[in-house]
Amino acid sequence: DSFRRYQFVVNETPFTRLCETKNILTVNGLFPGPTIEVHKGETIVVDVYNMGNYNITLHWHGVKQPRFPWSDGPAYITQCPIQPGSNFSQQIIFSVEEGTLWWHVHSDWSRATVHGAIVVYPQYGTTYPFPQPDEEVLITLGEWWKKDVMEVITEALTTGADPNISDAFTINGQPGDLYPCSQPETFQLTVVPGATYLLRIVNAAMNDIFFLSVANHSLTVVGTDGSCTKPFTTDYITISPGQTIDALLLADQPPGLYYIAARAYASGSNPFDNTTTTAVVQYYGPIYPFQQPSFPYLPDYNDTSAYINFSKSLRSLTSESYPIDVPLNVTTQLISTVSINTIPCPNTSCAGPNGTRLAASMNNISFVNPSIDILQAYYNHITGVFDDQFPHFPPYVFNFTADYPQLILEVPTRGREVIVLDYESTVELVLQGTNLVTGLDHPMHLHGYSFYVVGYGFGNFDKDKDPLTYNLVDPPLQNTVIVPKNGWTAIRFIANNPGVWFMHCHLERHASWGMETVFIVKNGNDSNATLLPPPPDMPPC
Ligand code: C2O
Ligand code: CU
Repeated sequence: DSFRRYQFVVNETPFTRLCETKNILTVNGLFPGPTIEVHKGETIVVDVYNMGNYNITLHWHGVKQPRFPWSDGPAYITQCPIQPGSNFSQQIIFSVEEGTLWWHVHSDWSRATVHGAIVVYPQYGTTYPFPQPDEEVLITLGEWWKKDVMEVITEALTTGADPNISDAFTINGQPGDLYPCSQPETFQLTVVPGATYLLRIVNAAMNDIFFLSVANHSLTVVGTDGSCTKPFTTDYITISPGQTIDALLLADQPPGLYYIAARAYASGSNPFDNTTTTAVVQYYGPIYPFQQPSFPYLPDYNDTSAYINFSKSLRSLTSESYPIDVPLNVTTQLISTVSINTIPCPNTSCAGPNGTRLAASMNNISFVNPSIDILQAYYNHITGVFDDQFPHFPPYVFNFTADYPQLILEVPTRGREVIVLDYESTVELVLQGTNLVTGLDHPMHLHGYSFYVVGYGFGNFDKDKDPLTYNLVDPPLQNTVIVPKNGWTAIRFIANNPGVWFMHCHLERHASWGMETVFIVKNGNDSNATLLPPPPDMPPC
Protein backbone atom coordinates (compact mmCIF):
# COMPACT_ATOMS: atom_id res chain seq x y z
CA ASP A 1 0.00 0.00 0.00
CA SER A 2 1.07 3.59 -0.55
CA PHE A 3 -0.67 5.11 2.43
CA ARG A 4 0.93 8.05 4.21
CA ARG A 5 2.56 6.82 7.44
CA TYR A 6 3.01 8.34 10.86
CA GLN A 7 5.52 6.99 13.38
CA PHE A 8 4.23 7.11 16.98
CA VAL A 9 6.88 6.22 19.55
CA VAL A 10 5.34 5.90 23.01
CA ASN A 11 7.82 6.58 25.80
CA GLU A 12 8.37 8.25 29.16
CA THR A 13 9.46 11.88 28.93
CA PRO A 14 10.16 14.38 31.76
CA PHE A 15 7.83 17.40 31.91
CA THR A 16 7.66 20.24 34.43
CA ARG A 17 4.32 21.69 35.52
CA LEU A 18 3.14 23.36 38.74
CA CYS A 19 6.75 23.73 39.99
CA GLU A 20 7.47 19.97 39.82
CA THR A 21 9.06 17.64 37.28
CA LYS A 22 7.89 14.10 36.61
CA ASN A 23 8.01 11.53 33.84
CA ILE A 24 4.86 11.21 31.79
CA LEU A 25 3.98 8.82 28.99
CA THR A 26 4.03 10.66 25.63
CA VAL A 27 4.00 10.04 21.90
CA ASN A 28 7.25 11.26 20.26
CA GLY A 29 8.10 13.20 23.45
CA LEU A 30 5.23 15.65 22.94
CA PHE A 31 2.43 16.70 25.30
CA PRO A 32 -0.18 17.09 23.89
CA GLY A 33 0.92 14.57 21.27
CA PRO A 34 1.42 15.05 17.53
CA THR A 35 -1.45 16.21 15.33
CA ILE A 36 -2.67 14.02 12.49
CA GLU A 37 -3.71 16.05 9.43
CA VAL A 38 -5.68 14.38 6.65
CA HIS A 39 -8.30 15.08 4.03
CA LYS A 40 -11.70 13.44 4.04
CA GLY A 41 -11.52 10.21 2.07
CA GLU A 42 -7.85 9.53 2.88
CA THR A 43 -6.41 6.44 4.62
CA ILE A 44 -3.23 6.57 6.71
CA VAL A 45 -1.14 4.08 8.67
CA VAL A 46 0.17 4.83 12.15
CA ASP A 47 3.12 2.66 13.20
CA VAL A 48 2.88 2.50 16.99
CA TYR A 49 6.04 1.52 18.91
CA ASN A 50 5.55 0.94 22.61
CA MET A 51 8.81 1.92 24.30
CA GLY A 52 7.13 2.63 27.67
CA ASN A 53 6.55 0.38 30.66
CA TYR A 54 2.80 -0.23 30.33
CA ASN A 55 0.61 -2.22 28.01
CA ILE A 56 -1.15 0.32 25.80
CA THR A 57 -3.56 0.68 22.90
CA LEU A 58 -4.36 3.73 20.77
CA HIS A 59 -7.83 4.78 19.61
CA TRP A 60 -8.89 7.22 16.85
CA HIS A 61 -11.86 8.83 18.53
CA GLY A 62 -14.81 9.49 16.21
CA VAL A 63 -13.33 7.75 13.15
CA LYS A 64 -15.85 5.30 11.73
CA GLN A 65 -13.25 2.79 10.47
CA PRO A 66 -15.74 1.17 8.08
CA ARG A 67 -15.73 -2.64 8.42
CA PHE A 68 -12.32 -2.46 10.08
CA PRO A 69 -12.58 -2.39 13.88
CA TRP A 70 -9.18 -4.14 14.07
CA SER A 71 -7.47 -0.74 14.30
CA ASP A 72 -10.07 0.91 16.52
CA GLY A 73 -8.08 0.37 19.69
CA PRO A 74 -10.08 -0.18 22.91
CA ALA A 75 -8.17 -2.75 24.97
CA TYR A 76 -9.89 -6.15 25.33
CA ILE A 77 -12.74 -4.97 23.08
CA THR A 78 -11.08 -4.93 19.64
CA GLN A 79 -7.49 -5.89 20.39
CA CYS A 80 -5.07 -7.10 23.03
CA PRO A 81 -2.68 -4.42 24.28
CA ILE A 82 0.62 -3.57 22.60
CA GLN A 83 3.15 -4.83 25.13
CA PRO A 84 6.30 -2.89 26.07
CA GLY A 85 8.90 -3.38 23.36
CA SER A 86 6.37 -4.32 20.66
CA ASN A 87 4.71 -2.47 17.83
CA PHE A 88 1.47 -2.47 15.85
CA SER A 89 0.60 -0.75 12.57
CA GLN A 90 -2.88 0.73 12.64
CA GLN A 91 -4.76 1.63 9.47
CA ILE A 92 -7.04 4.64 9.92
CA ILE A 93 -9.74 5.06 7.29
CA PHE A 94 -11.25 8.55 7.03
CA SER A 95 -14.45 8.04 5.08
CA VAL A 96 -17.20 10.35 6.31
CA GLU A 97 -15.74 12.66 8.95
CA GLU A 98 -14.84 16.30 8.35
CA GLY A 99 -13.59 18.67 11.03
CA THR A 100 -11.77 18.00 14.30
CA LEU A 101 -11.36 14.65 16.04
CA TRP A 102 -8.63 13.27 18.27
CA TRP A 103 -6.71 10.15 19.22
CA HIS A 104 -5.86 8.80 22.67
CA VAL A 105 -4.70 5.81 24.68
CA HIS A 106 -7.57 3.38 25.23
CA SER A 107 -6.21 0.98 27.80
CA ASP A 108 -6.00 2.87 31.06
CA TRP A 109 -5.52 6.29 32.59
CA SER A 110 -2.36 7.06 30.63
CA ARG A 111 -4.65 8.76 28.15
CA ALA A 112 -4.26 11.77 30.51
CA THR A 113 -0.99 12.53 28.71
CA VAL A 114 -1.12 10.34 25.60
CA HIS A 115 -3.52 12.12 23.26
CA GLY A 116 -3.48 14.47 20.30
CA ALA A 117 -5.71 16.13 17.71
CA ILE A 118 -6.87 14.83 14.33
CA VAL A 119 -7.70 17.48 11.73
CA VAL A 120 -9.79 16.25 8.82
CA TYR A 121 -9.85 18.84 6.03
CA PRO A 122 -12.58 18.74 3.37
CA GLN A 123 -12.06 16.36 0.45
CA TYR A 124 -9.34 17.50 -1.97
CA GLY A 125 -10.78 20.07 -4.35
CA THR A 126 -13.52 21.28 -1.99
CA THR A 127 -13.61 24.06 0.61
CA TYR A 128 -15.17 24.67 4.02
CA PRO A 129 -18.91 25.31 4.09
CA PHE A 130 -18.14 28.54 5.99
CA PRO A 131 -15.89 31.55 5.20
CA GLN A 132 -12.27 30.50 4.85
CA PRO A 133 -10.48 31.37 8.15
CA ASP A 134 -7.19 33.28 8.04
CA GLU A 135 -5.60 30.81 10.45
CA GLU A 136 -6.43 27.60 12.34
CA VAL A 137 -5.60 27.04 15.99
CA LEU A 138 -5.82 23.89 18.11
CA ILE A 139 -7.15 24.31 21.63
CA THR A 140 -6.76 21.05 23.55
CA LEU A 141 -8.22 20.99 27.05
CA GLY A 142 -6.69 18.60 29.54
CA GLU A 143 -5.85 17.84 33.15
CA TRP A 144 -2.54 17.55 35.02
CA TRP A 145 -1.87 15.42 38.09
CA LYS A 146 1.27 15.93 40.18
CA LYS A 147 1.05 12.23 40.96
CA ASP A 148 1.51 9.43 38.47
CA VAL A 149 -1.96 9.04 36.88
CA MET A 150 -1.73 5.25 37.02
CA GLU A 151 -1.29 5.50 40.80
CA VAL A 152 -4.37 7.72 41.02
CA ILE A 153 -6.67 5.14 39.45
CA THR A 154 -5.04 2.15 41.13
CA GLU A 155 -5.54 3.79 44.51
CA ALA A 156 -9.17 4.65 43.72
CA LEU A 157 -9.99 1.13 42.58
CA THR A 158 -8.28 -0.37 45.62
CA THR A 159 -10.08 1.78 48.18
CA GLY A 160 -13.39 1.89 46.28
CA ALA A 161 -13.56 5.67 46.62
CA ASP A 162 -13.67 8.52 44.10
CA PRO A 163 -10.23 9.09 42.51
CA ASN A 164 -8.29 12.21 43.48
CA ILE A 165 -9.10 15.21 41.37
CA SER A 166 -6.36 16.62 39.12
CA ASP A 167 -4.06 19.45 40.24
CA ALA A 168 -4.72 21.67 37.23
CA PHE A 169 -6.75 22.02 34.09
CA THR A 170 -4.72 22.77 30.97
CA ILE A 171 -4.99 24.46 27.57
CA ASN A 172 -2.53 22.96 25.07
CA GLY A 173 -0.74 21.28 27.97
CA GLN A 174 -0.34 24.50 30.01
CA PRO A 175 -2.25 25.32 33.21
CA GLY A 176 -2.09 29.07 32.53
CA ASP A 177 -1.61 32.30 34.49
CA LEU A 178 -3.79 31.40 37.47
CA TYR A 179 -1.75 28.37 38.63
CA PRO A 180 1.65 28.43 40.40
CA CYS A 181 4.85 28.43 38.27
CA SER A 182 2.78 28.42 35.08
CA GLN A 183 2.55 32.01 33.86
CA PRO A 184 5.60 32.19 31.54
CA GLU A 185 4.42 29.16 29.55
CA THR A 186 0.75 30.14 29.18
CA PHE A 187 -0.47 29.41 25.67
CA GLN A 188 -0.67 32.61 23.64
CA LEU A 189 -2.59 33.20 20.44
CA THR A 190 -1.42 36.31 18.58
CA VAL A 191 -4.12 37.73 16.31
CA VAL A 192 -4.25 40.30 13.52
CA PRO A 193 -7.09 42.83 13.91
CA GLY A 194 -9.92 41.94 11.56
CA ALA A 195 -8.73 38.37 10.91
CA THR A 196 -10.77 35.19 11.53
CA TYR A 197 -9.44 32.18 13.44
CA LEU A 198 -10.84 28.67 13.33
CA LEU A 199 -10.50 27.26 16.84
CA ARG A 200 -10.42 23.47 16.84
CA ILE A 201 -11.31 22.67 20.43
CA VAL A 202 -10.79 19.17 21.89
CA ASN A 203 -11.77 18.12 25.40
CA ALA A 204 -9.08 15.57 26.25
CA ALA A 205 -9.64 15.89 30.02
CA MET A 206 -10.20 12.73 32.04
CA ASN A 207 -13.09 13.60 34.29
CA ASP A 208 -14.32 17.10 33.60
CA ILE A 209 -16.89 18.76 31.39
CA PHE A 210 -15.91 22.38 30.65
CA PHE A 211 -17.38 25.76 29.97
CA LEU A 212 -15.05 27.83 27.78
CA SER A 213 -15.20 31.43 26.61
CA VAL A 214 -13.07 34.27 25.30
CA ALA A 215 -13.19 37.71 26.96
CA ASN A 216 -15.10 40.33 24.91
CA HIS A 217 -15.39 37.97 21.91
CA SER A 218 -18.18 35.72 20.80
CA LEU A 219 -17.63 32.42 19.03
CA THR A 220 -19.42 31.10 15.96
CA VAL A 221 -19.76 27.33 16.21
CA VAL A 222 -19.43 25.60 12.81
CA GLY A 223 -18.80 21.97 13.70
CA THR A 224 -18.77 19.29 16.35
CA ASP A 225 -17.36 15.75 16.53
CA GLY A 226 -16.10 15.79 12.94
CA SER A 227 -19.31 16.99 11.32
CA CYS A 228 -20.50 20.40 10.15
CA THR A 229 -23.17 22.34 12.02
CA LYS A 230 -25.38 25.29 11.18
CA PRO A 231 -23.32 28.29 12.30
CA PHE A 232 -24.50 29.82 15.57
CA THR A 233 -23.00 32.56 17.65
CA THR A 234 -22.53 32.18 21.38
CA ASP A 235 -20.72 33.77 24.33
CA TYR A 236 -19.55 30.43 25.72
CA ILE A 237 -19.26 26.82 24.70
CA THR A 238 -19.69 23.64 26.73
CA ILE A 239 -17.63 20.60 25.86
CA SER A 240 -17.48 17.19 27.49
CA PRO A 241 -14.57 14.74 27.49
CA GLY A 242 -14.43 13.12 24.06
CA GLN A 243 -16.25 15.95 22.34
CA THR A 244 -14.77 18.42 19.84
CA ILE A 245 -16.09 21.84 18.81
CA ASP A 246 -14.99 23.90 15.79
CA ALA A 247 -15.66 27.61 16.24
CA LEU A 248 -14.71 30.83 14.43
CA LEU A 249 -13.20 33.69 16.41
CA LEU A 250 -13.22 37.11 14.73
CA ALA A 251 -10.53 39.47 16.06
CA ASP A 252 -12.85 42.48 16.16
CA GLN A 253 -11.96 44.07 19.50
CA PRO A 254 -9.64 46.96 20.36
CA PRO A 255 -6.00 45.78 20.40
CA GLY A 256 -5.16 44.36 23.81
CA LEU A 257 -5.00 41.15 25.83
CA TYR A 258 -7.99 38.85 26.36
CA TYR A 259 -8.22 35.61 28.29
CA ILE A 260 -9.52 32.36 26.89
CA ALA A 261 -10.75 30.65 30.07
CA ALA A 262 -12.16 27.22 30.84
CA ARG A 263 -13.45 25.72 34.05
CA ALA A 264 -15.37 22.65 35.04
CA TYR A 265 -19.12 22.15 34.97
CA ALA A 266 -20.38 19.81 37.66
CA SER A 267 -23.90 19.30 38.84
CA GLY A 268 -23.51 16.40 41.21
CA SER A 269 -22.00 15.89 44.60
CA ASN A 270 -18.76 14.49 43.21
CA PRO A 271 -15.41 15.99 44.21
CA PHE A 272 -15.10 19.30 42.42
CA ASP A 273 -12.29 21.52 41.22
CA ASN A 274 -13.25 25.18 40.83
CA THR A 275 -9.94 26.34 39.37
CA THR A 276 -9.68 27.96 35.92
CA THR A 277 -7.25 27.32 33.10
CA THR A 278 -6.39 30.21 30.80
CA ALA A 279 -4.70 31.09 27.52
CA VAL A 280 -4.21 34.60 26.17
CA VAL A 281 -5.40 36.21 22.94
CA GLN A 282 -2.96 39.01 22.15
CA TYR A 283 -3.50 41.48 19.30
CA TYR A 284 -0.55 42.47 17.15
CA GLY A 285 0.50 46.03 17.88
CA PRO A 286 1.63 48.02 20.91
CA ILE A 287 0.56 46.59 24.30
CA TYR A 288 0.79 48.91 27.29
CA PRO A 289 3.27 47.64 29.86
CA PHE A 290 1.72 45.73 32.80
CA GLN A 291 -1.62 45.49 31.05
CA GLN A 292 -3.74 42.66 32.49
CA PRO A 293 -5.82 40.54 30.15
CA SER A 294 -9.56 40.97 30.63
CA PHE A 295 -11.46 38.00 31.97
CA PRO A 296 -14.52 36.49 30.26
CA TYR A 297 -17.98 35.62 31.51
CA LEU A 298 -18.44 31.89 32.23
CA PRO A 299 -21.68 30.20 33.34
CA ASP A 300 -21.83 29.04 36.97
CA TYR A 301 -20.19 25.69 37.66
CA ASN A 302 -23.58 23.99 38.24
CA ASP A 303 -25.60 25.70 35.51
CA THR A 304 -27.21 22.65 33.89
CA SER A 305 -29.49 24.74 31.69
CA ALA A 306 -26.49 26.64 30.25
CA TYR A 307 -25.06 23.24 29.42
CA ILE A 308 -28.19 21.82 27.84
CA ASN A 309 -29.09 25.03 25.98
CA PHE A 310 -25.70 25.00 24.32
CA SER A 311 -26.05 21.31 23.42
CA LYS A 312 -29.50 21.91 21.94
CA SER A 313 -28.12 24.72 19.77
CA LEU A 314 -26.00 22.22 17.84
CA ARG A 315 -27.80 21.47 14.56
CA SER A 316 -26.67 19.61 11.46
CA LEU A 317 -25.80 21.81 8.51
CA THR A 318 -28.27 20.04 6.13
CA SER A 319 -27.26 21.47 2.76
CA GLU A 320 -27.01 19.87 -0.65
CA SER A 321 -23.38 18.93 -0.06
CA TYR A 322 -24.10 17.99 3.58
CA PRO A 323 -27.33 15.96 3.53
CA ILE A 324 -28.54 14.10 6.59
CA ASP A 325 -29.92 10.58 6.80
CA VAL A 326 -31.59 10.44 10.20
CA PRO A 327 -33.70 7.25 10.38
CA LEU A 328 -37.39 8.14 10.58
CA ASN A 329 -38.63 4.61 11.17
CA VAL A 330 -36.99 2.69 13.97
CA THR A 331 -36.63 -1.09 13.72
CA THR A 332 -34.70 -1.56 16.95
CA GLN A 333 -35.75 0.37 20.04
CA LEU A 334 -33.23 0.18 22.87
CA ILE A 335 -33.22 1.78 26.25
CA SER A 336 -30.47 1.73 28.81
CA THR A 337 -30.03 3.25 32.21
CA VAL A 338 -26.67 4.82 32.98
CA SER A 339 -26.05 4.75 36.73
CA ILE A 340 -23.55 5.27 39.46
CA ASN A 341 -23.89 2.34 41.87
CA THR A 342 -22.26 0.80 44.86
CA ILE A 343 -21.24 -2.83 45.21
CA PRO A 344 -20.17 -4.72 48.33
CA CYS A 345 -16.46 -4.77 49.12
CA PRO A 346 -14.65 -8.12 48.86
CA ASN A 347 -14.35 -8.75 52.63
CA THR A 348 -13.27 -5.75 54.67
CA SER A 349 -14.97 -2.41 54.26
CA CYS A 350 -13.79 0.07 51.66
CA ALA A 351 -14.01 3.82 51.19
CA GLY A 352 -17.18 4.20 49.07
CA PRO A 353 -20.58 5.26 50.51
CA ASN A 354 -21.51 3.16 53.62
CA GLY A 355 -18.29 1.18 53.38
CA THR A 356 -19.04 -0.11 49.87
CA ARG A 357 -17.13 0.39 46.61
CA LEU A 358 -18.26 2.80 43.91
CA ALA A 359 -19.31 1.19 40.64
CA ALA A 360 -21.11 2.25 37.48
CA SER A 361 -23.39 0.44 35.08
CA MET A 362 -25.56 0.38 31.98
CA ASN A 363 -28.87 -1.39 32.59
CA ASN A 364 -27.43 -2.55 35.87
CA ILE A 365 -24.53 -4.43 34.28
CA SER A 366 -21.15 -3.21 35.43
CA PHE A 367 -18.85 -4.13 32.57
CA VAL A 368 -15.67 -6.10 33.28
CA ASN A 369 -12.98 -6.58 30.63
CA PRO A 370 -12.46 -10.13 29.33
CA SER A 371 -8.94 -11.54 29.05
CA ILE A 372 -8.95 -11.73 25.25
CA ASP A 373 -10.66 -9.15 23.08
CA ILE A 374 -14.31 -9.51 22.12
CA LEU A 375 -13.58 -8.84 18.43
CA GLN A 376 -11.28 -11.86 18.05
CA ALA A 377 -13.69 -14.00 20.08
CA TYR A 378 -16.56 -12.99 17.80
CA TYR A 379 -14.55 -13.35 14.58
CA ASN A 380 -13.08 -16.72 15.53
CA HIS A 381 -16.18 -18.07 17.32
CA ILE A 382 -14.41 -18.44 20.67
CA THR A 383 -17.03 -19.03 23.35
CA GLY A 384 -17.04 -17.93 26.98
CA VAL A 385 -15.63 -14.46 26.33
CA PHE A 386 -18.87 -12.45 26.24
CA ASP A 387 -22.63 -12.92 26.60
CA ASP A 388 -25.33 -11.47 24.38
CA GLN A 389 -28.04 -11.13 27.01
CA PHE A 390 -27.83 -7.37 27.54
CA PRO A 391 -30.93 -6.74 29.63
CA HIS A 392 -33.69 -4.47 28.40
CA PHE A 393 -36.24 -2.60 30.44
CA PRO A 394 -39.46 -3.07 28.52
CA PRO A 395 -41.77 -1.43 31.06
CA TYR A 396 -39.94 1.91 30.72
CA VAL A 397 -39.90 2.33 34.47
CA PHE A 398 -36.89 4.05 35.95
CA ASN A 399 -35.86 5.11 39.32
CA PHE A 400 -34.14 8.45 39.09
CA THR A 401 -36.51 9.66 41.75
CA ALA A 402 -35.05 6.91 43.91
CA ASP A 403 -38.45 5.63 44.90
CA TYR A 404 -39.77 2.64 43.03
CA PRO A 405 -37.42 -0.20 41.99
CA GLN A 406 -34.39 1.33 43.61
CA LEU A 407 -33.30 -1.75 45.50
CA ILE A 408 -33.35 -3.93 42.42
CA LEU A 409 -31.02 -1.56 40.64
CA GLU A 410 -28.70 -0.62 43.40
CA VAL A 411 -26.34 -3.57 43.24
CA PRO A 412 -25.32 -4.17 39.65
CA THR A 413 -24.23 -7.49 38.18
CA ARG A 414 -20.67 -7.63 36.92
CA GLY A 415 -20.60 -8.96 33.37
CA ARG A 416 -19.69 -8.70 29.71
CA GLU A 417 -23.02 -8.33 27.98
CA VAL A 418 -23.07 -7.19 24.37
CA ILE A 419 -25.96 -5.84 22.26
CA VAL A 420 -26.29 -7.63 18.92
CA LEU A 421 -27.71 -5.67 15.96
CA ASP A 422 -28.72 -6.82 12.51
CA TYR A 423 -26.98 -5.15 9.59
CA GLU A 424 -28.78 -1.96 8.55
CA SER A 425 -31.25 -2.05 11.40
CA THR A 426 -32.35 1.46 12.30
CA VAL A 427 -31.67 1.94 15.95
CA GLU A 428 -32.99 4.30 18.56
CA LEU A 429 -31.19 4.22 21.87
CA VAL A 430 -32.55 6.14 24.84
CA LEU A 431 -30.00 6.65 27.60
CA GLN A 432 -31.69 7.22 30.95
CA GLY A 433 -29.81 8.72 33.87
CA THR A 434 -30.70 7.56 37.37
CA ASN A 435 -30.18 8.96 40.81
CA LEU A 436 -29.17 5.89 42.80
CA VAL A 437 -25.97 6.94 44.50
CA THR A 438 -25.90 10.36 42.90
CA GLY A 439 -27.32 12.03 39.80
CA LEU A 440 -24.55 13.06 37.42
CA ASP A 441 -24.20 14.01 33.77
CA HIS A 442 -22.64 11.31 31.60
CA PRO A 443 -20.94 12.04 28.25
CA MET A 444 -21.65 8.76 26.43
CA HIS A 445 -19.46 7.82 23.48
CA LEU A 446 -20.04 5.21 20.75
CA HIS A 447 -17.25 3.78 18.61
CA GLY A 448 -17.64 3.02 14.88
CA TYR A 449 -20.58 5.37 14.42
CA SER A 450 -21.71 8.92 14.62
CA PHE A 451 -25.33 9.17 15.69
CA TYR A 452 -28.06 11.77 15.45
CA VAL A 453 -29.02 13.30 18.78
CA VAL A 454 -32.79 13.59 18.41
CA GLY A 455 -33.82 14.60 21.92
CA TYR A 456 -32.98 15.45 25.51
CA GLY A 457 -35.15 15.77 28.57
CA PHE A 458 -35.25 15.81 32.33
CA GLY A 459 -36.91 13.21 34.55
CA ASN A 460 -38.00 9.79 33.36
CA PHE A 461 -38.26 9.19 29.63
CA ASP A 462 -41.93 9.00 28.64
CA LYS A 463 -42.22 6.71 25.62
CA ASP A 464 -45.54 8.23 24.54
CA LYS A 465 -44.90 11.93 25.01
CA ASP A 466 -41.18 12.51 24.64
CA PRO A 467 -40.74 11.24 21.06
CA LEU A 468 -43.16 13.99 19.97
CA THR A 469 -40.48 16.52 20.93
CA TYR A 470 -37.71 14.93 18.82
CA ASN A 471 -35.78 16.96 16.28
CA LEU A 472 -35.86 14.82 13.14
CA VAL A 473 -35.18 17.77 10.82
CA ASP A 474 -31.62 18.84 11.60
CA PRO A 475 -30.38 16.87 14.63
CA PRO A 476 -26.61 17.12 15.20
CA LEU A 477 -24.36 14.22 14.23
CA GLN A 478 -22.14 13.40 17.21
CA ASN A 479 -20.03 10.59 18.62
CA THR A 480 -20.24 11.75 22.24
CA VAL A 481 -23.39 13.09 23.86
CA ILE A 482 -24.31 14.26 27.30
CA VAL A 483 -27.03 12.45 29.24
CA PRO A 484 -28.20 15.25 31.53
CA LYS A 485 -28.31 14.80 35.27
CA ASN A 486 -31.52 12.94 36.18
CA GLY A 487 -32.59 13.06 32.56
CA TRP A 488 -32.42 11.23 29.26
CA THR A 489 -30.98 11.53 25.76
CA ALA A 490 -32.26 9.83 22.60
CA ILE A 491 -29.98 8.99 19.69
CA ARG A 492 -30.54 7.29 16.33
CA PHE A 493 -28.24 5.59 13.87
CA ILE A 494 -28.28 3.03 11.05
CA ALA A 495 -26.27 -0.09 11.93
CA ASN A 496 -24.30 -0.11 8.65
CA ASN A 497 -20.81 -0.71 10.04
CA PRO A 498 -20.30 -4.42 10.77
CA GLY A 499 -18.00 -5.23 13.66
CA VAL A 500 -17.51 -4.90 17.39
CA TRP A 501 -17.97 -1.38 18.75
CA PHE A 502 -17.51 -0.10 22.27
CA MET A 503 -19.85 2.29 24.05
CA HIS A 504 -18.96 3.96 27.34
CA CYS A 505 -19.05 7.04 29.49
CA HIS A 506 -16.11 9.29 28.57
CA LEU A 507 -15.61 10.37 32.18
CA GLU A 508 -12.68 8.08 32.80
CA ARG A 509 -13.61 7.27 36.38
CA HIS A 510 -17.07 6.10 35.32
CA ALA A 511 -15.61 3.93 32.54
CA SER A 512 -13.17 2.44 35.06
CA TRP A 513 -16.15 1.56 37.25
CA GLY A 514 -17.93 -0.27 34.41
CA MET A 515 -20.25 2.23 32.64
CA GLU A 516 -19.56 0.44 29.37
CA THR A 517 -21.16 -1.91 26.89
CA VAL A 518 -20.45 -3.34 23.43
CA PHE A 519 -22.42 -3.43 20.19
CA ILE A 520 -21.88 -6.28 17.76
CA VAL A 521 -23.20 -5.38 14.31
CA LYS A 522 -23.68 -8.44 12.12
CA ASN A 523 -22.57 -8.72 8.52
CA GLY A 524 -24.85 -7.82 5.65
CA ASN A 525 -25.44 -10.08 2.69
CA ASP A 526 -23.04 -8.78 0.09
CA SER A 527 -19.28 -8.79 0.28
CA ASN A 528 -18.93 -5.02 0.82
CA ALA A 529 -21.14 -5.29 3.90
CA THR A 530 -18.91 -7.69 5.82
CA LEU A 531 -16.29 -7.32 8.48
CA LEU A 532 -12.79 -7.28 6.93
CA PRO A 533 -10.20 -9.85 8.09
CA PRO A 534 -7.64 -8.92 10.77
CA PRO A 535 -4.20 -7.63 9.76
CA PRO A 536 -1.34 -10.10 10.32
CA ASP A 537 0.31 -8.13 13.15
CA MET A 538 -2.55 -7.98 15.71
CA PRO A 539 -0.93 -7.88 19.17
CA PRO A 540 -1.25 -11.20 21.04
CA CYS A 541 -2.69 -11.36 24.56
CU1 C2O B 1 -12.46 8.67 23.18
CU2 C2O B 1 -13.77 4.87 23.73
O1 C2O B 1 -13.06 6.75 23.44
CU1 CU C 1 -20.45 8.91 33.50
